Formats: sequence, C-alpha cells, structure tokens
Amino acid sequence: METQASVSDLLARRKAGHSLEQPFYTSPEIFALDMSRIFYREWLFAIPSAVLPKAGSYVVHKIGTYSMIIVKGQDGVIRAFHNSCRHRGSVLCKTAQGHVPKLVCPYHQWTYELDGRLLYARDMGADFDPADHGLKPIHCRSVAGLVYICLADEAPDFDEFAKTAEPYLAVHDLADAKVAMQTTIVEKGNWKLVWENNRECYHCTGNHPALCRSFPLDPDATGVRVDGSMSPSLQAHFERLEAAGTPSKFVLGGDGQYRLARMPLQEKALSYTMDLKPAVSKNLGRVPMQDAGTLLKFHYPTTWNHFLPDHSITFRVTPISPTETEVTTTWLVNKDAVEGVDYDLQRLTEVWLATNDEDREVVENNQEGINSPAYRPGPYSQMQESGVIQFVDWYCETLGRALEPQLKTVAAE
Ligand code: FES
Ligand SMILES: [Fe+2]
Repeated sequence: METQASVSDLLARRKAGHSLEQPFYTSPEIFALDMSRIFYREWLFAIPSAVLPKAGSYVVHKIGTYSMIIVKGQDGVIRAFHNSCRHRGSVLCKTAQGHVPKLVCPYHQWTYELDGRLLYARDMGADFDPADHGLKPIHCRSVAGLVYICLADEAPDFDEFAKTAEPYLAVHDLADAKVAMQTTIVEKGNWKLVWENNRECYHCTGNHPALCRSFPLDPDATGVRVDGSMSPSLQAHFERLEAAGTPSKFVLGGDGQYRLARMPLQEKALSYTMDLKPAVSKNLGRVPMQDAGTLLKFHYPTTWNHFLPDHSITFRVTPISPTETEVTTTWLVNKDAVEGVDYDLQRLTEVWLATNDEDREVVENNQEGINSPAYRPGPYSQMQESGVIQFVDWYCETLGRALEPQLKTVAAE
C-alpha cells in the first residue's frame, strides 16, 4: 500500500496527542522505512562495555539485515565490524558471543586481527594486498561504559549526547561493572508499542504489582512536561543530589532523542527489590546517598536504563519484524561483588523479570487489538502519557525529516 509519499501523507494528517494509525504498527513497508531511515541512520545503544571483559571478547548483534561483531581489541578498545568476510562474504562469527585470539573466517580461514586488519589469507598471489581487505568498520563510541554504534556511512553528531550524559553516568562506574545476568525476550508487538508502553506508568498500577512497590508512580517521573517545568518536590530532590556532587536534574536533548533525570523511588525504597532494600551490598559506582533514587535515561530508538546506587540495568530494543521486537535486559553489579555473598541473583532480578513479562503481555495485547480493522487512533492522557506523546512526536518528526530529501529528489525528476 504505502509508497513513501503516502507515508508522508499519513504523517501529515496525524492527529496530535493520539496513537498512530494502524499501518505504523503493522505495515511491512513502514517497518522497512523505520529500519532504513531510523535504525540504519541513528546512533544505537548496543551493549554495556562490561559484556566484553577482556581482549578477544566479542558479541554478534543483528539489526535488520545487518550483522555486526563488537569486539574488544588487545589495546582495550571496543570496535564494531560488519560480520562479513572480505573474501567472499561469509559470516565470520556464528555464535552470539565468545572469546577468540583472532577473528578467523570459517570458510577459507582468512584471519583478522581484533582491530579488523587482515593478517593472513592463503594463496592469494603476489598482487594481493591484505591492507585493502580489512574488516569493514562500523561507527562505534563508548560513553562511560555504554557502547553505541551507528550503521550510517556518515554518522550524526554523537558528541552533544556524550558530553551531556557522561557526568550523569560517570558516578556509576559502568566500565568497571560485571554482568550479573542478561535476558532476551521477544515481544509480539511493533517496536513503537514497546516504547509507548515504556514511556508511561499509566499502566503500572494495573499491571506491575512488584515494580509498584519501588517505582515512582508520579507521572512526572516517567513523562516529559510539555512546558519543561518540574514539580517543586522533584526540583528539591535534584537540588539535594546535585549539592552532593551527583548530576541529577532533568535534561531533554538531541531534539527529544534522549532524556536524563535522577528520579526518587517510592518512599523508603532504595532499590528495585521486593523488600525495598539494596539488592547488592557492594555498590556499583559512587553515588553518595543510598536513597538517591534511579537515574532514568532513554535514548531513542534503542535504549532505556535505570542506574541505581547499588546496581544498574540496561535495556535494548531491537525490531525484528513489524510485529516482533527483541528486548535485551542486562543487570550490572560491582565487579568485586560475589554472587551468593554480596547479592542473591533471584532477589536482584525478580522485580524486572516479572515487569518485563508483564510489559510483554500488555504490548502483545495492544498489538492484537490494533491489528483489528476496527482500530482507530485513540487519545493519550495529557496527565499520564506525556512521555508517550513526546516519543511519538520524536518518531514522526524523525521519520518525516528522513523522508524529505528523497521526496524532493523524486519531485525533481
Ligand atoms: S569467505 Fe571468508 S575466507 Fe573465504
Ligand atoms: Fe511497564
């Protein structure tokens, strides 16, 4: 159905403050545009650097039709490469993660250094220059222990975000963390429904009994006030923490692409645990107050995170199809914390394991209802769903902007 022009028509006739029309959640054509115009162009959160503890540690990450290797070099630098051999294109790494001294192609054993240089290719003749056949790099940047990649030939600016986020994240010592647990689930819903659900807590009381013990239900904690104002109690919370040297105040940057704010948890809650006490006895990072709450960070289109005084959790969103989205959750703890001594893994993870599953279910219900021909866009609550409105606006503006030059080219032909 949708040519690019008709997608632009759909964007142009969008009713502000309402959920999107059905094709945005179901159409393969719009999904293809979401991938090519957003996911293949923007900076995407890939992994916490703690996933790669030593030289030679690697993970394979797939985004749409791309497969990439993210690997730590002998020099400690994390790099990303297309997972495609420069001989005849075979994938180099078949397993999702591992540890290797060199990257060796399984087909004819071309062998690459961890920094992508081709070291060895058998019987290629005198004219063959290995220097011309290094692995194809992907833009890769680390900010305070969070690794981002960008698939575009020319990456958009990353410095503004990195400069803003770095001081907020630095106190959490994420580069020094260890992975306590990582889970990957597939939600049978469009990636934007995963985000819409994340950007409000209107659904929390009805769906998240465990999370609601600790997570703040104040709509301002999840949402974004349109006028940029802040409630006096949140303002006081930010000021108290900033006075103690912990960056906390609300910042929305990158044309709405990211938000940082350290929000208070429910009264008496110190972490996301059933008993509200810290989950780990050795803190991850140097947040000076145990009741500092949670640093909430999102960066569209791939990540939201919670950074607490005792541990941190990263979430990564990867679209799989118009109605399937992978969500990977990683729990990070102090690298010296010992499981069974300093933390109990079940206690550390139970609240968000339950919450993820509850979110999966509401997202899948949402998708199923939207699949009906009877579905029509409905109004978001201005009081409770300001974050959703902000996300959907960001999405429509970003996609609209990305479609513009091409339309001009078509018009000029
Ligand atoms: S395709 Fe990799 S060595 Fe031949
Ligand atoms: Fe939720």
